[in-house]
Amino acid sequence: MHSCDVLIVGAGAAGLFCAGVAGQLGLKVLLVDHAAKVAEKIRISGGGRCNFTNRDLDPRAPHKHFLGENPQFCRSALSRYTAADFTALVQRHGIAFHEKHKGQLFGDRSSDDFIRMLLTECAAGGVTHWQPCAVHGVRHHPDAGYEVDTDRGPVHATRVVVATGGLSIPQIGASDFAWRLARQFGLRVVEPRPALVPLTFDGSHWAPYAQLAGLALPVRIATGLKKQRVAFDEDLLFTHRGLSGPAVLQISSYWQPGTPVRLDLAPGRDLGAALLTAKLQSRRLLVNELAGHVPARLAEAWVGQDPSWQRPVNESSDKALAALAARLSDWELCPTGTEGWRKAEVTAGGVDTRDLSSQTFESRQPGLHFIGEAVDVTGWLGGYNFQWAWSSGFACAQALAQARTPA
Ligand code: FDA
Repeated sequence: MHSCDVLIVGAGAAGLFCAGVAGQLGLKVLLVDHAAKVAEKIRISGGGRCNFTNRDLDPRAPHKHFLGENPQFCRSALSRYTAADFTALVQRHGIAFHEKHKGQLFGDRSSDDFIRMLLTECAAGGVTHWQPCAVHGVRHHPDAGYEVDTDRGPVHATRVVVATGGLSIPQIGASDFAWRLARQFGLRVVEPRPALVPLTFDGSHWAPYAQLAGLALPVRIATGLKKQRVAFDEDLLFTHRGLSGPAVLQISSYWQPGTPVRLDLAPGRDLGAALLTAKLQSRRLLVNELAGHVPARLAEAWVGQDPSWQRPVNESSDKALAALAARLSDWELCPTGTEGWRKAEVTAGGVDTRDLSSQTFESRQPGLHFIGEAVDVTGWLGGYNFQWAWSSGFACAQALAQARTPA
């Protein structure tokens, strides 16, 4: 039987990083993953360039960029291994990178650079890596650690780290392994749901906007409920079935089914005042005036919704102009759902942080740890989810080394 100090299940961002750090701290690490290819999610991330962290992350205020039942849970790990720490590692490996907007750091070349870096770190730590290799049963013997059935035979491990991520993009190996195992050992799980995901709308209600598919514009988007309103200033993308783009992906993590979202399609502008001024100075069609403030395709689709908006601006009533401005700057609409796991970038929910230590990531089940996306911590779009994977993996690895029983 293969024997190790630590069995890490899942060779994605969190698992690979944790394995490398733990190995370099002297632990005998076995890393297994059931997928044929290593770290597919890193490969497809950031449009193939991997948005590996975010400079704006403030570990002292994790609630600003992370959600979950208890966003303060991630404070300790994010403070102990920061965006600057991971960036320094990237620099040590000679990987060129650049900052896009809002603190997002991307590789210059390809996500493969980051996978190679993580594998090099694992090799430096003498990590044994079995892939593809599925994990079946996990049993705990109170005085003898864990016995785990794998495709390559049984494994004995003093501790087990679960880094199997969430359910998004099932076609590249996502599974609910972490939550099944958590429940097997009596741990609580916050119901997982797709996050950072496009929103869909009722087909017949969406028909007037379907013609806008492909249009992108900067907007302000907010949750519909006045209480605890969350808002983002980001780009919106119209699609055939609904809305996407960074604005919608961000708000989707906060959206509750059955509630509306609110959109300002001309953020930072007083459209009502601008149209009233135009009324005094212009005889152009309202659609042409509007096209000075929002994209022409959007202006056309909007005025098409009401005959009172299809006149020259000087012949339009103040009420009609005010209604048009209000409809553009406070457009309330009710999504019917999301595009689901197939299109979600991450999973919200996961192993309940009440059952985990924020210092060691050990659960109430002794010797069983959970890290990365499997935990009920979800970051904003923009590199926050990878930073969570690195920080939780690092903190866990440190704890594993400290907990090691002397030989
Ligand atoms: P991750 O999903 O990386 O790894 C889990 C591993 O466990 C996988 O290799 C899987 O095969 C394995 N596994 C699952 N079940 C198993 C089982 N039963 N047995 C054995 N192995 C099992 N984030 C970010 O910060 N910046 C970005 O640019 C992007 N871009 C992006 C694009 C797209 C399209 C997606 C879908 C996601 C992103 N993300 C992102 C999110 C980011 O990829 C994600 O949060 C991290 O990869 C999570 O790291 P984990 O290691 O927790 O899971």
